[in-house]
Amino acid sequence: MGQLHISTDQAFVIEDGFIGWVGDVTNAPKTETIIDAKGRVCIPGFVDSHTHLIFAGARHQEFSHRMAGEAYQAGGIKSTVSATRGATDQELRENAAKLVAELHASGITHFEIKSGYGLDLETEIRSLAIASEFTEDVTFLGAHVVPEGVARADYLNLVTGPMLDQATGLAKWIDVFCDDGAFTVEESRMVLEAGIAKGLRPRMHSNQLKNIGGIALAVELECASVDHCTDLSQADIDLLAQSSTVATFVPGAEFSTRASYPDVRPVIAAGVTVAIATDCNPGSSFTTSMPFCIAVAVRELHFSVDQALWAATKGGARALENELGSLAVGSRADFALLDAKSYIDLAYRPGVPIVSATYVAGQKVFERTSN
Ligand code: NIG
Ligand code: FE
Repeated sequence: MGQLHISTDQAFVIEDGFIGWVGDVTNAPKTETIIDAKGRVCIPGFVDSHTHLIFAGARHQEFSHRMAGEAYQAGGIKSTVSATRGATDQELRENAAKLVAELHASGITHFEIKSGYGLDLETEIRSLAIASEFTEDVTFLGAHVVPEGVARADYLNLVTGPMLDQATGLAKWIDVFCDDGAFTVEESRMVLEAGIAKGLRPRMHSNQLKNIGGIALAVELECASVDHCTDLSQADIDLLAQSSTVATFVPGAEFSTRASYPDVRPVIAAGVTVAIATDCNPGSSFTTSMPFCIAVAVRELHFSVDQALWAATKGGARALENELGSLAVGSRADFALLDAKSYIDLAYRPGVPIVSATYVAGQKVFERTSN
């Protein structure tokens, strides 16, 4: 993974949403307007490469039962599916817009959104259409689980056939939940290969609930990213290290499902590119806070603070195969200002809302009015 480049008393000039000049504040050229950071820390905006923002309803009881000892199961997804199918486009759009505002408030400036709570042709396609109102990184996750009342083979035919045909114009990515209670490695291969044949780039959910061998498939199909990675073997780590596939960690999911946390140290030591994402969804990780994910990643997954900040910015960008996540000449002016003495406060001050303003392409999308 890359290194952070930290400097003090710097300024940058924004031209048409992009950074045109970076240098010492004393040499900064004159500009029409000035954003005075007033001693705050400026970081590249977080790049959240994994969210499920298109859904209706909530799963408070399921969470509460889990905290009382029940296990998390992939089947919980089905209760969100019923609520999502029953929601209007406007309800789904408003719920997503509220969550997007929360993402901005946590310093996230770019994010991916998946479908996957429709699981029928109409609701998957309208989910993708609504997602595309918020981001260009839209992911078709028709293969989240097999819905109630549909035979497995029929559903796989739908996902790899008519649903995929309509998803192709709306989505950039194809995803599958390759795990215990969801899809097998062979089924996941069918889904991803069908998407690849239609020009979608692959990514995967894998190794969350059980290691059923998804990493080898992710590497073989050159997935941009394989997400969760809660349970990785040394052989998986070696495979990832020889590939360009990013390992994306979602600490909010281990937190909210009371799963054991993975240890990222051998993964980073092997040279695997790593990212941190929120995985915001109503079941396993209902958080929109990247600082929270960073704090848990540092405390529990053994990221250093520097590694976690890199993984939540440049790592997320790598997972989405884009050039975001840094502040250099030519970068889009996506940044957050932290009301903090150091970026280390992202982990050192857990739960404290230190993000004080967020800018996307030079435009303010969030400002905290009180703390
Ligand atoms: O990324 N793992 C699969 N999908 C989601 C959770 C889905 C749910 O429980 O609603 C995830 O954690
Ligand atoms: Fe997910």
